[in-house]
Amino acid sequence: MKKFKIASIPGDGIGPEVIREGIKILNKIAEADGTFQFEFTEFPWGCEYYTKHGVMMDEDGMEKLKDYDAIYLGAVGYPGVPDHISLWDLLLRIRKGFDQYVNIRPITLLEAAPCPLKDTNREDVNMLFIRENSEGEYAGAGDWLFKGKENEVVLQNGVFSRKGTERIIRYAFETARKEGRTLTSISKGNALNYSMVFWDQVFEEVSREYPDVKTASYLVDAAAMLMIKDPKRFEVVVTSNLFGDILTDLGAAIAGGIGLAAGANINPEREYPSMFEPIHGSAPDIAGQNIANPLAAIWSASQMMDFFGYENYGKNILQAIEKVLIDGNVLTTDMGGTATTEQVGSQVVNYLEEMLAQQTVKKR
Ligand code: NAD
Ligand code: IPM
Ligand code: MN
Repeated sequence: MKKFKIASIPGDGIGPEVIREGIKILNKIAEADGTFQFEFTEFPWGCEYYTKHGVMMDEDGMEKLKDYDAIYLGAVGYPGVPDHISLWDLLLRIRKGFDQYVNIRPITLLEAAPCPLKDTNREDVNMLFIRENSEGEYAGAGDWLFKGKENEVVLQNGVFSRKGTERIIRYAFETARKEGRTLTSISKGNALNYSMVFWDQVFEEVSREYPDVKTASYLVDAAAMLMIKDPKRFEVVVTSNLFGDILTDLGAAIAGGIGLAAGANINPEREYPSMFEPIHGSAPDIAGQNIANPLAAIWSASQMMDFFGYENYGKNILQAIEKVLIDGNVLTTDMGGTATTEQVGSQVVNYLEEMLAQQTVKKR
């Protein structure tokens, strides 16, 4: 039987609570399908591990992860360990080390998902963010000069390589072409007079190879405004690492909340494992209470199914999430309900089970 080896890194805060539910969903699919199974190996890395061992992950952690088919991650970062240490030594180390240069973040308003914008329906919010995930403002390059002195200066350099910029923009064009949708580039060439001028130039160059793809280009400040005022105009979107980070939290807010927003960190060449994770963090304010919304983590599991070539199951997971929303009786507090994390996960499993059983009947 085909086996998918998954490294799970539940991480900090609500991470373990939501990953547990995602694993439940994946196992249910494997059980119903019967031709493949998942083998999960849990790595206990994170801030607690750091306080015990002085490292966020084992020294040879990347070596340990490299042969898995995928990584399933909860969240990293917790009060007590400085964020720049915890994130750079675990989450960002994996994204960079495994060259997961494509961050796919769907901003899709499912039916009955709470949307704070008035007169806004599901047809109005259906964006696919493709965030550069390996360099840019997250290059980790800089300097801290004359520390503590009057003339103290801190530099944080953005790095936009030809290779890194071209490959993400090309990936976005390929996606837009495949989906028959428009591609919007979001940048900031007016103020960032090196990096974003270069970004715009590369976008323009690559666009010539895709005359069939309709394009648009916005400055990031205007884009943020338009995402609220007229989200419909955004379909496939490509943007830099930092802009993508910020705009997808904004997007999450208009597509049902941060508890529903998923992401996939992809190494398209499949030279290294890709990583699936909700876009939210460890939510220390609600951790340990079994009230975190697991739907974002479950949606990331749906992206994992797509990545493995089982788009039908990816779709089924989304349909099951949508049924939970439409039903409206089993939701966590962030969505106005009173259910626990575990109850929401189990409700997705219930709907999924129903759906999968019907499909088996059809197959026969
Ligand atoms: P956060 O996403 O953890 O929380 C922001 C707000 O959203 C909080 O009020 C929280 O309760 C709520 N929230 C988040 N996820 C939720 C869920 N599933 N259900 C219900 N409510 C949810 O962001 P933050 O507070 O800025 O960061 C906390 C820590 O997480 C920091 O250490 C940060 O660096 C880290 N972080 C990690 C990741 C990651 O691992 N991918 C992402 C973002 C932040
Ligand atoms: C995200 C997070 C990370 C990012 C942080 C925790 C480094 O905010 O995945 O959106 O900025 O990419
Ligand atoms: Mn973020």
